[in-house]
Amino acid sequence: MDTSRLPLTVPSIAACKGRRKLSALTAYDFTFAKLFDEAGIDILLVGDSLGCVIQGHSTTLPVTLDEMLYHCRCVRRGVQRALVVGDLPFMTYQASDEAALEAAGRLIKDAGVSAVKLEGGLSVADRISALTRYDIPVMGHVGLTPQSYHRMGGHRIQGRSVEGGTSRFTASAEKVRADAHAVEDSGAFAVVLEGIPEDLAREITEELTIPTIGIACGSVCDGQILVSYDLLNLTAGKVPRFVSPKADLKESITRAAQEFIAEISADDRARRAS
Ligand code: KIV
Repeated sequence: MDTSRLPLTVPSIAACKGRRKLSALTAYDFTFAKLFDEAGIDILLVGDSLGCVIQGHSTTLPVTLDEMLYHCRCVRRGVQRALVVGDLPFMTYQASDEAALEAAGRLIKDAGVSAVKLEGGLSVADRISALTRYDIPVMGHVGLTPQSYHRMGGHRIQGRSVEGGTSRFTASAEKVRADAHAVEDSGAFAVVLEGIPEDLAREITEELTIPTIGIACGSVCDGQILVSYDLLNLTAGKVPRFVSPKADLKESITRAAQEFIAEISADDRARRAS
């Protein structure tokens, strides 16, 4: 039997660790989700990056749960095989276990996602335990966590500098490592490592038993994730340096619109001249 089109589940994604690399992209609507799913992407994350690429905000902070629910439903309708994961927006899970259960429960029940993602490590370990205790699968996210924009002073690489002396890693790098372990120990089935040095990402990947999904930390993780608009060069601003776009939709879309305008103008001119 060809198992390559069977729907992926939380256990089947977790079981990929050490067997094969996972591919993941963000998706925000039906059409893109269907195309990515049919292309064979393993995980589709309805990321709160939609605040930037869909809504035009400069950070992910303004995104609401209702907006996430809307986009998750759109994506869900386009997907047959990929595991669909919904991001928990800023301040829908930080305040209490109850808040986290309420928000994550809605993403599962009302929008049909199979798992939720939340940012943080030690500080949200209790939240991850509360969610997984009630069978809500959680993907963690440590390192550069975009919801910590103000604390980090922007979207900045975390755990960067390597100290001399006895330790190869700085305290901030060790904090990222401790966060990743806290995510695993609390019951998450996978963790995104974002914006950390490659050697730290490699060590964390070797230490954890759950898959690590990397972004902006080299290609040493158990899988890779990208914001799909970056992959397609559709992002309004600059595509981050670590991305090699595989298409140029900005160019294609602009050209298609210009050709359409030119066609209409030519038609108009012809009609007036006749
Ligand atoms: O919201 C998002 O798109 C993300 C990915 C960059 C991992 O969190």
